[in-house]
Amino acid sequence: MKSVAALLLLCIQCINIVCSRTVYVASSNTGIWMYNQNEDGSLQYLSNPVRAATNFLAAHPNGKYLYATSTDNNTYTAYQVRGASLTKLNDVPSSDNKGSGVAHVSIHPSGKMMFGANYDEGSFVSFNITDDGYLQQRIFFNVPGTGSKGNWNRQQGPHAHMITTTPNHKYVVGLDLGADRIWMWKYDPSSLTPSAPNQFIAPLGSGPRHIAFSPKGQYAYVVTELGCTVMVFNYAEGVLQLVQTISTVPSGTNGVLAGEIRVHPSGNFVYVSNRWSNTNNIAVFSVDPNNGNLRIVNWMASGGTSPRGLNLCPSGKYLYAANEYADGNGNSLFVFRIDQNSGTLTLTNSYPNGGGCLDVEFSPETIHDFIINESNNIIIDIIESSDHIVNDIIAADHIFHPLHIEIHDDLIFVELFASVCAGRCQGESCCPTPSGPQCYQPSVYSCSADDLGKYQLCPKGLSSCGSACYSTSQYKCKNGFLTV
Ligand SMILES: *[C@@H]1O[C@H](CO)[C@@H](O)[C@H](O)[C@H]1NC(C)=O
Ligand SMILES: *[C@@H]1O[C@H](CO)[C@@H](O)[C@H](O)[C@H]1NC(C)=O
Ligand SMILES: *[C@@H]1O[C@H](CO)[C@@H](O)[C@H](O)[C@H]1NC(C)=O
Repeated sequence: MKSVAALLLLCIQCINIVCSRTVYVASSNTGIWMYNQNEDGSLQYLSNPVRAATNFLAAHPNGKYLYATSTDNNTYTAYQVRGASLTKLNDVPSSDNKGSGVAHVSIHPSGKMMFGANYDEGSFVSFNITDDGYLQQRIFFNVPGTGSKGNWNRQQGPHAHMITTTPNHKYVVGLDLGADRIWMWKYDPSSLTPSAPNQFIAPLGSGPRHIAFSPKGQYAYVVTELGCTVMVFNYAEGVLQLVQTISTVPSGTNGVLAGEIRVHPSGNFVYVSNRWSNTNNIAVFSVDPNNGNLRIVNWMASGGTSPRGLNLCPSGKYLYAANEYADGNGNSLFVFRIDQNSGTLTLTNSYPNGGGCLDVEFSPETIHDFIINESNNIIIDIIESSDHIVNDIIAADHIFHPLHIEIHDDLIFVELFASVCAGRCQGESCCPTPSGPQCYQPSVYSCSADDLGKYQLCPKGLSSCGSACYSTSQYKCKNGFLTV
């Protein structure tokens, strides 16, 4: 029989590479926080790498850069993401007016343009982004609105609250709370030009704040901060057609401000935060699949006070609520499990982050690379976009060497190769003992096919055979099998 080098497959560990995300949290008190999202929705603290007051964040689609509204100096800041660290690339003034009041930032899906909304000034702005993530040139600046004065205290002037790209990426939409307007522009890498029509006029005094689109892009949902409503629109090619207006609070509730709006990735649910007047909750709406209309399901306490930010994990399994003020235990970031049938929320975790918690964003889906380090037989689990080493695993000992890695569903298989057997034991099987290769007949050396999937990860210095771990010095070859 032909000489065989001992090959076996080792199931190292069950790793879900799909749902691994970095979670970014913006705080006006404590800056930017980074967490690793676990599969059960809980968060593993990574770092608080930026202390500059920040109220909104946007991840670049390639995962390598993060953009922030820096409120101290009213700038938009570009950071490079490397592991749990953020390195400032540059920042750009949001306006020629130092009191512009940066409020929102988003990135065009091409990754080539940043959009910003300056609340105090009512201006919308965009900068192009270099391949290295730097904010380069201001290519658009516009104050399209004037204060509607429908709400005397809040609408003396225009107040740009959000600017983002529409689903087919061809238009850019701006929400102006002070002017009661929703502005629409055509996107071009070199500029933004008014679309036709270029504005939707919202009810006087309603204060349109944020917009979210259905996953297929045919519906748009706009939350009005002052009116506490969701306006439901049919959306196509830059045109918004109002089809429903629904309250975010029970009738008779006064003094509440609506905050963030997010659509579930299934399109089946919409979530809106409500704050102030002892109303600190998340309104859960179900979506009529025939026409996109909303129906209230219930309200869930947001955990802390003033939930200004909300976001859903892109898998749709968890909702994260960013409260401006902590609960009695000092926690301001709350995690809820989403019932996939009803959309209702169940509180699962809460975290402190110094209050002022305003926005939660997710990195793009993280791609993990598994690399064999041949000099120490360690498999390195590394996040592709940031080169951040998440984990390393002793895959083999001095007898076995990892040869090849394969990923099937959520299992990672590593083919091990006993190099000491290479070219040895012609016609017989080879057992790679610590003292060197031993040749056996019949040619049955296997910890392989029958045990496939049973192999476990052994602590450093031990080897795996089947479901057991062995010290290499205890290895013996018996009838061609590796035994203790
Ligand atoms: C704001 O500007 C001042 C003066 O240039 C500077 O010292 C400070 O570091 C800036 N703050 C941030 C967060 O960039
Ligand atoms: C940004 O825009 C300026 C002005 O149009 C242009 O010269 C520059 O090449 C653009 N840079 C990128 C990265 O697109
Ligand atoms: C591979 O292992 C060697 C020896 O332990 C170590 O010096 C080297 O840094 C490792 N390489 C990587 C990329 O981790």
